Amino acid sequence: MKGLKGIILAGGLGKRLHPLTKITNKHLLPIFSRPMIYYPIQTLVDAGIEDILIVTGGMHAGEFLRLLGNGKEFGLKHINYTYQEGEGGIAEALRLAEHFAEGSSIVVILGDNIIEKNIKDSVSGFIKQKTGAKILLKEVEDPERFGVPELEGDKIVGIEEKPKKPKSKYAVTGIYMYDNKVFDIIKTLKPSGRGELEITDVNNSYIKKGELTYSILDGWWTDAGTFESLLRANNLVAEREGGNDK
Ligand code: G1P
Repeated sequence: MKGLKGIILAGGLGKRLHPLTKITNKHLLPIFSRPMIYYPIQTLVDAGIEDILIVTGGMHAGEFLRLLGNGKEFGLKHINYTYQEGEGGIAEALRLAEHFAEGSSIVVILGDNIIEKNIKDSVSGFIKQKTGAKILLKEVEDPERFGVPELEGDKIVGIEEKPKKPKSKYAVTGIYMYDNKVFDIIKTLKPSGRGELEITDVNNSYIKKGELTYSILDGWWTDAGTFESLLRANNLVAEREGGNDK
C-alpha cells in the first residue's frame, strides 16, 4: 500500500458531548481500554497505511502529541500533526491535508469512527480503481443521523446529509478514499446550512463525475459523538476485547 496516505480528522469542539468535552478533546475520551483516537489509528495501520496525519484543533491539541508521540505503540516511526482553527466542518479540516498528501491518494477516517474488522480489501479495491473516490456504507437503524445514499442498482446516485426521510437504510460511514482531486473539489464548496464545508458535498461531486464507488463495511461500525453512540462504542469494544475482571 505504498504511496497511499492516511488522514484522521480529530478536531471539532464535541459540543454534543458537553460537559465531557469541556476539558478535553472528544477523541481523547475513553473507549473501553484506550483513548478514542487509538481506534482510527489502528484501522489505518491494519490497512497497511503508515504515513498518517492527525488534524486536530480546539484547546487540547497538545495532548495528542503527549499521548501519541511518534506512534511507537502502533509500530509507527512518525506521526504528522496539524491544527484546525475554529470549526469549519469535515471538508474544511481535510483541506489542511493538501500539503501533506503531496499528490498522493488518501484514506480519510473520522476520529470518532470505530469498526470491528478491517478495511484492507476495500483499500486494495480503491488502489486498483486508480482514480476517483470510494466510500464505505453500513446498514443502520437510524440513517437520519448520517449521510444517506440513494441507490439505483449497484450505483449511488446521490447522498443526503441527515435527511428527514432517508432514501435507504444505509449510513455513509466516516471512512473515505479519495484521489488527489479532492483538494480541488473542496476549493469549490460553499458552507452548508450549518455553516460547514460538508464531506457529503465532496462525495456528491464525485458522484456527478461518475467516479464514486462503494463497498459495504464488514462487521459492526459506530460513531461516538453523542452520549448514546459513545456508550455503544464502549460496549461494542468491551464485548470484542473481553474484560480483565474475569
Ligand atoms: C459526519 C458526516 C456524515 C457521516 C458521519 C459518519 O456526520 O457529515 O455524512 O455519515 O459523519 O460518522 P457528523 O458526525 O459530523 O454529524
